Amino acid sequence: MNQSPYILAIESSCDDTGAAIFHGSQLLSNLTANQKVHEQYGGVVPELASRKHEEHIIPVVDQALAQAGIDVTQLDAIAFTVGPGLLGSLLVGCSFAKTLAMSLDIPLITVNHMEAHIMAHFIEDPKPQFPFLCLTVSGGHTQLIIVHDFHEMEILGETRDDAAGEAFDKIGKYLGLSYPAGPIIDKLAKEGKPKYKFPKPNLKGYEFSYSGLKTAVLYFLRDQKKLNPDFIQDNLSDVCCSVQSVIVQSLMDKVIKASNEYGINRITIAGGVSANSGLRKALENHTDEKEWDTYIPKIDYCTDNAAMIGIAAYYKYLKEDFATLDITPQPRLKLAT
Ligand code: KG4
Ligand code: ZN
Repeated sequence: MNQSPYILAIESSCDDTGAAIFHGSQLLSNLTANQKVHEQYGGVVPELASRKHEEHIIPVVDQALAQAGIDVTQLDAIAFTVGPGLLGSLLVGCSFAKTLAMSLDIPLITVNHMEAHIMAHFIEDPKPQFPFLCLTVSGGHTQLIIVHDFHEMEILGETRDDAAGEAFDKIGKYLGLSYPAGPIIDKLAKEGKPKYKFPKPNLKGYEFSYSGLKTAVLYFLRDQKKLNPDFIQDNLSDVCCSVQSVIVQSLMDKVIKASNEYGINRITIAGGVSANSGLRKALENHTDEKEWDTYIPKIDYCTDNAAMIGIAAYYKYLKEDFATLDITPQPRLKLAT
């Protein structure tokens, strides 16, 4: 078994087309083509997403190879996101990867997108030791997980309804912000104060819920606009700061509870919302207070990217965990437990 294979990794689960090249565990290139087309719709339009993936995939892979300084014939394996995600989007990456693997006669590796978000912690040093807690917060998922090993992950709880990223995006839409609103709310929140008290989602155990908060903000804005039609305009940064603060607090509450209950002090965050500066700061503050050993991914590895797919694939390659060419996308794929 080649211990330093060249692996091409492809990510196409939602609206970002990513390609990365690894040489062993070393990342050589990592490119992402974003899709601006969804901004005007306030969310990802699946049909448009798959068409854009088709447009982007070849140029993105070509650039990833060029930046890595290798030729396609040097590749030892092709990895791709098999799920969870949008069926049409996954299908583009899956078909491309299968075709290339077949034509080069090299192994094909499937990667679970949510597992890959967690595996992003293994792209660069320092890497967490097992077991560790991971709060995975993205546009589609909110999960608190004990990571026992690379493919042994125990979900303590997840969201009953909207994911944390979805809450940011939908509340952003009520505020007239474009999609994805998470990073915009984050930026505006820095200029505001947590002046408004929204109800903190507070389910028992390790479950999360954000639909109640979303509705509370919707009604709050409706009532305030009756008094002042320019309410949003006049108070945008304070509303953003208040919303962000309640989401961050609700996430942190569960992390603290799990750390205490399971006696695990190695804490990690992953997924698009882990780019949020409020969450990163709250985690840093608690780290000092509770003497946690905390791992916060680089911003580039928080939102969807192919580097995380590549590192997950590298560990599967070492175990010769390869897929067959009859593999199909799995939009509702769960974490390996
Ligand atoms: O992991 P990701 O790129 O895609 C999914 O797998 O869903 O996450 C995207 C989500 C979006 O909801 C986006 O608004 C949110 O991550 N997001 C943020 C920030 N950056 C991205 N939310 C809050 N603050 C941010 N800085
Ligand atoms: Zn993701």
